Order: sequence, then C-alpha cells, then structure tokens
Amino acid sequence: MSGSPGLSGLNVLVAGATSQAGIAAAEAFSSAGARVIAIGSNSGRLESSLGHLQSVERRTCDLTDFAAVQALSRELRAGGTNVDGLIHLVGGWRGGSGVAEQSDEDYDFLHRSVLTTLRNTTRAFVGDLSRSPRGRIAIVSSKAVDEPAAGSASYAAIKAAAETWVRAVAQEFNKTPDGQARAAASVVVVKALLDEKMRAESPERRFPGYTHVRDLAVMMTGLFERDAATINGQRLDLTS
Ligand SMILES: NC(=O)c1ccc[n+]([C@@H]2O[C@H](COP(=O)([O-])OP(=O)(O)OC[C@H]3O[C@@H](n4cnc5c(N)ncnc54)[C@H](OP(=O)(O)O)[C@@H]3O)[C@@H](O)[C@H]2O)c1
Repeated sequence: MSGSPGLSGLNVLVAGATSQAGIAAAEAFSSAGARVIAIGSNSGRLESSLGHLQSVERRTCDLTDFAAVQALSRELRAGGTNVDGLIHLVGGWRGGSGVAEQSDEDYDFLHRSVLTTLRNTTRAFVGDLSRSPRGRIAIVSSKAVDEPAAGSASYAAIKAAAETWVRAVAQEFNKTPDGQARAAASVVVVKALLDEKMRAESPERRFPGYTHVRDLAVMMTGLFERDAATINGQRLDLTS
C-alpha cells in the first residue's frame, strides 16, 4: 500500500490499534518505514487484528490505567525506545434521542475511553515526544464538536474536551528557546469513518462525507513530513 516514505527510525505508538482505523494506521506507518507499537486492551484482539503484520509490535495495556501506561513508557525507555509518534484512536460513541437521555453511565464510559486514555498517554509520553526530532501527537475528532446534536451531547462535550487537551499539549510544545515548536500535537476532524467491511455490508450506500480509514492513516503519516510549527495546535479538517 502507499504511504509517506521516510519514517524509518521513528517509533510510533498506535493507541487503540485493533479497530479498522487502528489496523489501517499500523499498516500505513509500517509501510512508511516506522516501527509501530500497537496498543490494545486485549491480547486476543491484538493478535486477530494485527497478527498479519509481522513487523508490528503488539502490546497489551489498559490505557485508562495511568500506572499501567507509565509502566509501558518506562519499559520502552529502558529498552532504548523513545516514542516519536502517538496516534490516539481510542474512541467509542454513546448517545440517546435527546439531552434527557444522556446517562451518567454513557458519559462515564466516554470520559474514560476518550479523555482518560488521552490524558494518560500524553502525560506518559510527552517527554519522549518533546525529545524526538519529529514528535507528533494526533487525535481523531468529530464534526459533532462544531455542530453538537442533542442526542450526542455527551459525546460532543467529551470530544471538545479532548481537543482542548491537545491544544494545551501544543502550548507545551511551543515552549522552545526560539518559540518554534519542534513537536506537534494536532486534531484531525472527520464526519465519520469508513472501511471495507462497512462497504461490503451496505454496498448500496454512498457514505457521503465519510473518511476512509486508509486515507486517514496515510494523512497521519504525512504529519511527520510537515513542519511541526505549521500543524502544532491545529485542527485539520478532512471534511471541508
Ligand atoms: N468511527 C467513526 O465514525 C468516528 C467518527 C469521528 C471520530 N472518530 C474517532 O476516530 C478514532 C478511531 O475510531 P474507531 O471507531 O476506530 O474507535 P473505536 O472503535 O473506539 O476503537 C477503539 C480502539 O481502542 C481500543 N481500546 C479501547 N479501550 C481501550 C483501553 N482501555 N486501553 C487500550 N485500548 C483500548 C480498542 O481495542 P480493544 O477493545 O481491543 O482494546 C480499539 O482498538 C476515535 O478517536 C474516534 O472517536 C471515529
């Protein structure tokens, strides 16, 4: 498959690697020459999703558990690995028909899945990313942040918080002697993701405005080729 050349020597952590988006990211970064460390919470799912990619390293870690993420980061560093890229893909969706249906249970799920995992991974790896000559963090956010709907109020609020967190990380990356970021934290915005399984299940659907996971993955490899200062703290909207 195609991908940006020239990522050899870079260590890229794909956080939430067993979904179709995660598999596409692992494939794209591997093709581009990076060493991929794929993280999921379940070893069986990691094996069945990514076992076909020989070069991809699979690691089980519950990213909602900060102590476990710190242990992962210490282990990698002790083995001589400095993480250059953090591709954060842990997501999920919960909603209802209106504001009254936004349950505590759903809100708590989204908070842990989307925001806690982002906070934990960025806190554990921001030092590595700042040290890297090409440190990059990317999350995938949603148009729901710009156009929140009552039925997905919790989802939109949590995604907005995740975007704000990324912009705060970006501010830290700007703290260089010359004020020019050498690392970048970016938000990639999609309406919805599309994969081949979805196409096969609904061959008659057109999926207007959707972003194919392969296009998303290749776009994210391209972040490592762009000048950090131009993408740090930026919202890169794939829907426009
Ligand atoms: N799908 C869409 O249409 C859409 C739309 C807008 C934005 N996005 C965003 O795009 C990104 C990717 O979307 P997606 O639909 O592929 O996400 P997803 O289905 O939520 O995938 C979640 C991934 O994270 C892993 N994961 C879940 N909990 C974990 C934990 N505690 N520790 C470690 N790994 C964990 C899952 O694997 P295991 O369960 O095997 O651990 C899975 O690989 C997400 O940020 C999502 O919010 C998606």
